[in-house]
Order: sequence, then structure tokens, then C-alpha cells
Amino acid sequence: MKQRILIVNSGGDCPGMNAVIRAIVKRANQEKNWEVIGSINGFDGILSEPLEIIPLTEKRVEGIHIQGGTILTTNNKRNPFCYPVKQSDGSIINEDVTDKLIYNLKVFNFDAVIHIGGNESHKISHKLSKKGVNIVGIPKTINNDLSITDFTFGFQTAAQVATEAVDKLVTTASSHNRVLILEVMGRDAGWIALHAAIAGGADVCLIPEIPFSMDKVLEKLKSRYSKDGRGFANIVVAEGAYFKNNKSDKNSDSIARKIASKLKEANFEADIRETILGHLQRGGTPIAFDRILATELGVKAFELVKEKKFGTMAVHQNFELTHKNLEEVINQYNKVDLSHNLIHTAKGIGISFGD
Ligand code: F6P
Repeated sequence: MKQRILIVNSGGDCPGMNAVIRAIVKRANQEKNWEVIGSINGFDGILSEPLEIIPLTEKRVEGIHIQGGTILTTNNKRNPFCYPVKQSDGSIINEDVTDKLIYNLKVFNFDAVIHIGGNESHKISHKLSKKGVNIVGIPKTINNDLSITDFTFGFQTAAQVATEAVDKLVTTASSHNRVLILEVMGRDAGWIALHAAIAGGADVCLIPEIPFSMDKVLEKLKSRYSKDGRGFANIVVAEGAYFKNNKSDKNSDSIARKIASKLKEANFEADIRETILGHLQRGGTPIAFDRILATELGVKAFELVKEKKFGTMAVHQNFELTHKNLEEVINQYNKVDLSHNLIHTAKGIGISFGD
């Protein structure tokens, strides 16, 4: 009988998810006795009755590495330890359904699970591993917020999209003598903002790791304008950035909008406009870097399963493809270290962090 691997992706999608699925399938098919199955919509597929799973043949995954999204669909609200279950009266109650999950894996002869996810997803991987599930993780997310791996796939594509947005905004800001504010994703990490600010040539970069002062931002903006109001400026702000001394205000509204209204309150003379880039950063074709990284991690994850190295995650560290135990992975959130060379580089070309 063939050995069966179930692929589950969870959390938000990101460019490269299809490339990783294809790599697992292609690598498994080089062995005689493996078959790969995909769970639809995260853990839903393996938990639903009847199961919603699809055989992932080489034919099915042909050419998908260049496609954005995931052919399996995904969900960031399907934690099997706290899973929405419809009750007989129609109400929904969150329940721990991991016993059912483990039962289904056994009954349907799954030997292992490869779980593709971000920071929160791998906390689930770790808990499932402790309950005896043969699980191997693969890191993904546009946020690049998992410390254990040099880069998560999806991040470089998102940084590219954000950079292209800065490029466009710079031309229109300069044509109208405006201040344009671009808000990018990243959760509690400023990686996308930092990369886009340097690559696109922003004047101000605001990230969650450096709480900023509006006075400092204003100082930088004023330096970009002549006395007769000619000039322009571009701000890149990470969605998780916040004002110094006002952490409680974090996440209550778009930070780009808050900055725009503070600039208006301060009677800053130039026209101000804000753009929230949103899910454009998550969709679309992965750039070559992310396709390659995803492919490397897919091949490695299959090999970890084959070697029965469960409870681990395939990672890329210091240009080496390797693996780490899940418990090491989940405790380290990858924030931008203030001594990181990119902070130094950004300051070196005059980018203000509002500090
Ligand atoms: O974790 C990826 C991410 O895109 C974050 O950057 C962002 O904060 C969040 O997901 C958005 O989630 P949703 O797609 O549920 O709006």
C-alpha cells in the first residue's frame, strides 16, 4: 500500500503556495510508493463529512508554480483546537476537534501531514505534533516574521509589489508637490515597509519596531519643501506602526489615515493623500526568488517526511536548506532588529524613521 501525505495550507495565502505544493508532489513522485493528497480550505477538508480532499497528481500540479494563491484554498480562521462547529440550533461554537482530526487521519490512512503556514499556523503544528500527529511544517507569509528562516516565501513578491507602488507614487507626488503616504502590510513586523522604502526611494519609513514622533516626521517633510511650497515627499508606513507614547491607539484605524489627519492638524501646507495597498501584496504571480524558495522547501519537507523527522519545519538558514524543531520555531517572532544593516543603510541615505 502507498504511503499517503496530506497537504494542509492555512493562514493567509501568499505568492509561492502553489509552487510549494507542486514541489512536494513532484518530489514524492520520484519515489515508488507515495501519494499526495490536498485538504481543501485548510483543515476543513480533512474534518468535513464527507472529506473534501483532492489527489495531487503531477498532472494536477503541472505549471501551477507560476500561479498566485493556492489551488487548495486556505483559511485563517480554522484552528482545529478552536474550530467553529455548527450546533443543532444553528449557532456556532468553537470546539477542540483535534481528536476527530487524528481519527480521520488514521481511518483514511494518512501517514503524515505537511502543514504550510505562518507564525500562528505553526503553533497549531506544534500542538498537533505533541498530540502524536506526524507533521512537518513549511514557513510561508508575506510578513517575513518567522525568525527561524532567512526568508519566508511570499515576502519578496510582496516587497516587490510595495516597491512598484512607491515607484508610481513618487512620480505623482512630484508632479503635484504632494505628500503621499503608502500603507503596507506586515503585521507586527516592518520588513515590507523597510524594503519598499529603500528600493522605491521613500523619504520616511515608519515601522512597528520604531515608534515614531510626528514632530520628527514633520521635520523631515519640511526639509523636502522650499519656502514657496515646492517639493514632494513619500512616506511608507507599515500597518503595525504606531505613534510614540500611544501604543494603545495601535490597530484602531488605518495608520496612514491617522498620519494624514495629524499632518492636516499641524497645518502642513502641502496636499496629502494616502494609499492602502492591502491584498495586492498577497495576490498574483510569485517572483522567481519566491518560486525557488518555495520549491526548495517543498522538496525538503517531503524528504523530512520520508526520513520520519516529524515535529520539524523545513527552513532556509544562512543559505543552507535545513530543518528545525517546531518548538524552536514558534517562540521567535521576527521583528526588524534595530541593529539590522538595512536600518543603517536606510538612515545612510537619509530615510527618516520618525525617531
Ligand atoms: O499575515 C498576512 C497578512 O496579510 C498580514 O500582513 C495582514 O495583517 C493580514 O494577513 C490580513 O489578514 P486578512 O486577509 O484576514 O485581512
